[in-house]
Amino acid sequence: MGTGRIAGEFASGLEHLEGAVLHSVASRTQSTASAFAEKVGAQKAHADYAGLAHDADVDVIYVATPHSMHAENSMLCLEAGKHVLCEKPFAVNTKQVLSMVEKARERQRFLMEAMWMRFIPIIHEARRRVDAGAIGELRMIQADFGFRVDYTPHGRLFNPNLAGGALLDVGIYPIALSTMFLGSPSDIVSLPTLGNTGVDEQSAYVFRHAAGQLSILSSAIRTHTTQSAWLYGTQGRIQLGVQFWRAQEMTIFIDGKDPEQVSMPYKGNGYQFEAQEVMDCLSHGKLESDIMPHSESILLMQTMDRIREQWGLRYPME
Ligand SMILES: NC(=O)c1ccc[n+]([C@@H]2O[C@H](COP(=O)([O-])OP(=O)(O)OC[C@H]3O[C@@H](n4cnc5c(N)ncnc54)[C@H](OP(=O)(O)O)[C@@H]3O)[C@@H](O)[C@H]2O)c1
Repeated sequence: MGTGRIAGEFASGLEHLEGAVLHSVASRTQSTASAFAEKVGAQKAHADYAGLAHDADVDVIYVATPHSMHAENSMLCLEAGKHVLCEKPFAVNTKQVLSMVEKARERQRFLMEAMWMRFIPIIHEARRRVDAGAIGELRMIQADFGFRVDYTPHGRLFNPNLAGGALLDVGIYPIALSTMFLGSPSDIVSLPTLGNTGVDEQSAYVFRHAAGQLSILSSAIRTHTTQSAWLYGTQGRIQLGVQFWRAQEMTIFIDGKDPEQVSMPYKGNGYQFEAQEVMDCLSHGKLESDIMPHSESILLMQTMDRIREQWGLRYPME
């Protein structure tokens, strides 16, 4: 649903997933839908989103529209009886996320946020090593996701009507890394640089967690940053590969030992892993993923709501 940049990426990810069939696509116009269907090899092209939601040959819909449309589009699909994988951020705020989760439960349909980082093999392995005590007690996380795009006031990243800004678009990755390893933050200190359209063009967040652990995180849409992540423990540290959210390697530094390089290469762009999870859950009759459960999506959104509240940043649709 939606034929933008990530929809194309996801379609190519599916090429590496046995058993997945990209059956139909939907756009707001027939010409875009048809051109996209041809490009990605889909059998059907719907000229509106409702057509896809009611397509009897479709099992599960991937929602790839701007953040501001996620709740409405997901609800349309769930209401029509479809299972849903919805892009990150799951919606604009917690109120919207809760209504999506409630609808999925009411209609007994599968719903998952497409936080694909969680399904990348090296991220799994890092989590396994940390849980096994490889670096002692995890005390601090440092992560950033910044990239530079040209300033386009009406574009998705800058337009407040589309819930633009660095936090919701890319800040969600370092935050998701933090909540994955350390859970909910008890305290948050954050600062944005708000641009001409009123959304954050860069922002930084420091979390303190229950046992005093810290997360030092940042994001940007006007500045390319290192896109790196470190996990610091009492006996060592882990450096995830650059572009940590889709890394294929990590280095483990244990005090007094040679660094250990761990490599877990994969084919394709990595979007196939989240799609695999959806297929596995559906084939086991599950309505929620254990790896990316609703509770985690709610926590992520609550955390981003708390941050925006500190800045006084509210979107027009709120
Ligand atoms: N997981 C990832 O790695 C990743 C990467 C990039 C983006 N994303 C997420 O995916 C979502 C889409 O991002 P994108 O980069 O693919 O955006 P994009 O290139 O702008 O595409 C968004 C698509 O949404 C549809 N749409 C519906 N209502 C719209 C509106 N009012 N304005 C503009 N487009 C509208 C359009 O498709 P039609 O014209 O066909 O209807 C458009 O092509 C975002 O929520 C973003 O956070 C995820």
